[in-house]
Amino acid sequence: MTKRLTLALTGASGSAFGVGVLRRLVAREDVAEIALLISPTGRRCLHDETGMKAEDLVALSSKVSLRNEQNLGADISSGSYRQDGMAIVPCSAGALGRIASGISEGLVSRAADVCLKERRPLVLCLRETPLNRIHLENMLRVHDAGAIVMPLMPGYYTKPASLADLVDTFATRVLDQLGLPEDDARRWKG
Ligand SMILES: Cc1cc2nc3c(=O)[nH]c(=O)nc-3n(C[C@H](O)[C@H](O)[C@H](O)COP(=O)(O)O)c2cc1C
Repeated sequence: MTKRLTLALTGASGSAFGVGVLRRLVAREDVAEIALLISPTGRRCLHDETGMKAEDLVALSSKVSLRNEQNLGADISSGSYRQDGMAIVPCSAGALGRIASGISEGLVSRAADVCLKERRPLVLCLRETPLNRIHLENMLRVHDAGAIVMPLMPGYYTKPASLADLVDTFATRVLDQLGLPEDDARRWKG
């Protein structure tokens, strides 16, 4: 069975990590479709930090199709649409707060809400520092509702030589959480 996944990039620093996850997803034979969502501020961060536009990400593969953040009638807005999980990379504190509060006012928060209610994997790669009490409480709320809170905290034990290394190692950890384990020589072997 091939999989359908949703990847959202919201308005936080760390867009390169979202791009890294997308590259890993498109490379997999068992991933057939990737619904890509980028919030308005996410587009700005993506361009500021990587020089890329949404269209450049869509051009990576025919598996990738863009959804409009304002279109609450999109396929991924409904629980009846079969999909296998969602990752938000990077996830802004604002997106986290909306999801934690069940405020589905845009497609990112609605699609995430659907994942929680349908018990599908939802991985939130929060990027904010330092964290205030509201952020910490919201992380606990989404955790208790079934989300996987996976802050953008890459590991350093693989001795990354570049940002690309760091991004790629972290991307494989995100795919692990989506139930898509990769052959990865950088896994810790003791
Ligand atoms: C250049 C830039 C960088 C930002 N970085 C962060 C960040 O790292 N983490 C965060 O939570 N918000 C960050 N923000 C603020 C969010 O973008 C803002 O709260 C926005 O409303 C989030 O909207 P979204 O969740 O729809 O993308 C940043 C904003 C800008 C313009």
